[in-house]
Amino acid sequence: MNDQLKIDIRPVTPPDVPAIAALAREIWQATYPGIITQAQIDFMLEQRYGVERLYDDIEQPDKWLDQAFCAGRRVGFAFCEICQGEFKLDRLYIHPDMQRRGVGGQLVTHTAERARRLGYLALVLTVNKRNDKAIASYRKYGFAIREEVVADIGGGFVMDDYVMEKRL
Ligand SMILES: CC(C)(COP(=O)(O)OP(=O)(O)OC[C@H]1O[C@@H](n2cnc3c(N)ncnc32)[C@H](O)[C@@H]1OP(=O)(O)O)[C@@H](O)C(=O)NCCC(=O)NCCS
Repeated sequence: MNDQLKIDIRPVTPPDVPAIAALAREIWQATYPGIITQAQIDFMLEQRYGVERLYDDIEQPDKWLDQAFCAGRRVGFAFCEICQGEFKLDRLYIHPDMQRRGVGGQLVTHTAERARRLGYLALVLTVNKRNDKAIASYRKYGFAIREEVVADIGGGFVMDDYVMEKRL
């Protein structure tokens, strides 16, 4: 990319939480119909983006919630965490009308730099096997599929994912 879009990456703070929850819902509704059922979308949004969960997440010492602004507008977020000894990019979501402009790439770079600073040699993530667009993006960022995993997330739902890894 020649002219990188100027974005500002800042930590999510408590007053940001309701806007992050709303942004997550908007992006999920634009992404997951056709990949998972509406019932699973609603269940997972409540499980992962309920405001109480987000308030709790930002207090954790081994989790980092970053949000990206472009010209003052909140356009996406990336959450990462230390999980079972690995550095995990847990959630990466860009508003539909700001996708494919390099925002996701800049958030991945930001996350990879944090992981490297903390001494990790790889960044890992999970992605739904049917989320072809995200998988294409992750390949572009240098991730490769490491394994497949089916996880029971409660409520009668499973996540059918690839684990992808980017060496740092
Ligand atoms: C996947 C996502 C995070 C990528 O972020 P982004 O800012 O849109 O992507 P970038 O601009 O950094 O693009 C990186 C590369 O990914 C690939 N890519 C991005 N969107 C793509 C799409 N819709 N179809 C195919 N390839 C795509 C391209 O190769 C792109 O490079 P190019 O535009 O130079 O060809 C973002 O599109 C998104 O939030 N999607 C919906 C939610 C989602 O699925 N999140 C991931 C959950 S695990």
